[in-house]
Amino acid sequence: MTGEINIFRLFFLSVMGYLSISATAELKKYQFDIQVKNVSRLCHAKPIVTVNGMFPGPTVYVREGDRVLINVTNYAQYNMSIHWHGLKQYRNGWADGPAYVTQCPIQTGQSYTYDFNVTGQRGTLWWHAHISWLRATVHGAIVIMPKQGTSYPFPQPDFEFNLLLGEWWNDDVEEVVKQGNKLGLPPKTSDAHTINGKPGPLFLCSEKHTYAIEVEQGKTYLLRIINAALNDELFFAINGHKLTVVEVDAVYTKPFSTNAILIAPGQTTNVLVRADQVPDRYFMAARPFMDAPISVDNKTATAILQYKGIPNTIVPKLPQLPSLNDTNFALNYNSKLRSLNSPQFPAKVPLKVDRHLFYTIGLGANPCPTCQNGTRLTASLNNITFLMPQIGLLQAHYYNLKGVFTMDFPDHPPTPFNYTGAPLTANLGTTVSNLPRLSKIAFNSTVELVLQDTNLLSVESHPFHLHGYNFFVVGSGIGNFDPNKDPAKYNLVDPPERNTVGVPTGGWTAIRFRADNPGVWFIHCHLELHTGWGLKTAFVVENGPSPDYSILPPPKDLPPC
Ligand code: C2O
Repeated sequence: MTGEINIFRLFFLSVMGYLSISATAELKKYQFDIQVKNVSRLCHAKPIVTVNGMFPGPTVYVREGDRVLINVTNYAQYNMSIHWHGLKQYRNGWADGPAYVTQCPIQTGQSYTYDFNVTGQRGTLWWHAHISWLRATVHGAIVIMPKQGTSYPFPQPDFEFNLLLGEWWNDDVEEVVKQGNKLGLPPKTSDAHTINGKPGPLFLCSEKHTYAIEVEQGKTYLLRIINAALNDELFFAINGHKLTVVEVDAVYTKPFSTNAILIAPGQTTNVLVRADQVPDRYFMAARPFMDAPISVDNKTATAILQYKGIPNTIVPKLPQLPSLNDTNFALNYNSKLRSLNSPQFPAKVPLKVDRHLFYTIGLGANPCPTCQNGTRLTASLNNITFLMPQIGLLQAHYYNLKGVFTMDFPDHPPTPFNYTGAPLTANLGTTVSNLPRLSKIAFNSTVELVLQDTNLLSVESHPFHLHGYNFFVVGSGIGNFDPNKDPAKYNLVDPPERNTVGVPTGGWTAIRFRADNPGVWFIHCHLELHTGWGLKTAFVVENGPSPDYSILPPPKDLPPC
């Protein structure tokens, strides 16, 4: 979608908003047709799975308080489900979307209507396919406008643009992942990074494939930036222009100014940019952050910020991005993120913790006689590699079906060890259980989860995403978490509130949330590579004291398995 269309649609929506006399929520309806379309990038064309033939897919524009119906019809050869990443889906896991967790996928030729309310949230989120690697091309933005009569807690921007950062493979991604699994190795890294589906002019045959926005001197722009990449954390910057961060994961932050942002797969970041430089053409650029010895696609995607009246013939300059392994930039950037915590948007951080969880993140290698090295790479939480079930976990929980999962996921790793010490090539007895093991959480209890990276095979940064909730990132550090010393350093006043957080390479992150949303909620690394290897589990949050605090009945058209 071009910037012009974005401007037009937003303008249209805001005019409609001001003219409308009714302050009540609206019903917004969308039709998503999953279709295969031939798309050309980097000198060749290939069929990709899309929504409505668009790449990236259509933006879902809603207003806080709206009810949204999105009918998804699957015309592709792959079974499909769509996740509305960051929407809390209160009591309504049926609309959450992760395949085999809250629903069975929509089979070829079938439809399912995602029916949900947008309550108590405003800002930028996104939607994506939640099965295998299909989200590489099946994704789009969700823009939640504040309630009518409510403004942003920052100066009103003149215009807004969505920037979806992605990864492009010249091959069919489903073949790429199959190949990796067969060899037991990471599949080939992506061939390009993209901004709104386009790699920009640093790539061959990409003249036509450059995204550009036009700005006017003196005006202020809100950029809604989404990292839709499968496996890469990214830096993003605009040559010559400061970025003011005002929101992450659809929660307002204390504004701060920076030359570059860091954004992990799954995360969103809203920044204000003032067109206050000499009228010219400037590159916007995105490139990975990787401070572990892991190979990554280090190519730079670019798009153009062009002042009105400047001819297309002028060659823009690249911004200075932090280097690939700039750990200090990453730590420093993350430490600047603070919730706005204003009277209108308070940070309701749980101060008392009912349940303490400590999960270790491990990469490992299991024996595999048919694989290239005789081993297959795998990943685990508390030494457990999660296997996907054949039917939806939420249905199994709701209907009390036996033999689908167990509720004995351990609160701690089986044996403590020096998590981030010398590399441990041994596997420490990682188990693949036959049934998925989940963790039962009491309704409305407060939970603290410490995610600890380990040096099994290699340390690495892992963006963890929790479905059904936002959480507060109360603390984070390098090395092993120290339960005696580290909690004293927590920020319990204005920590960032988000749905996806990067656990630093060889470090830990502590998050807190109140389990007030009953259902089965997936928690996983948002690097698709690691999710596929088993770096995931789910919380079963029990029903509350009455039907008003319990899981809603399933919709009639919930896809069968
Ligand atoms: Cu954005 Cu479980 O995913």
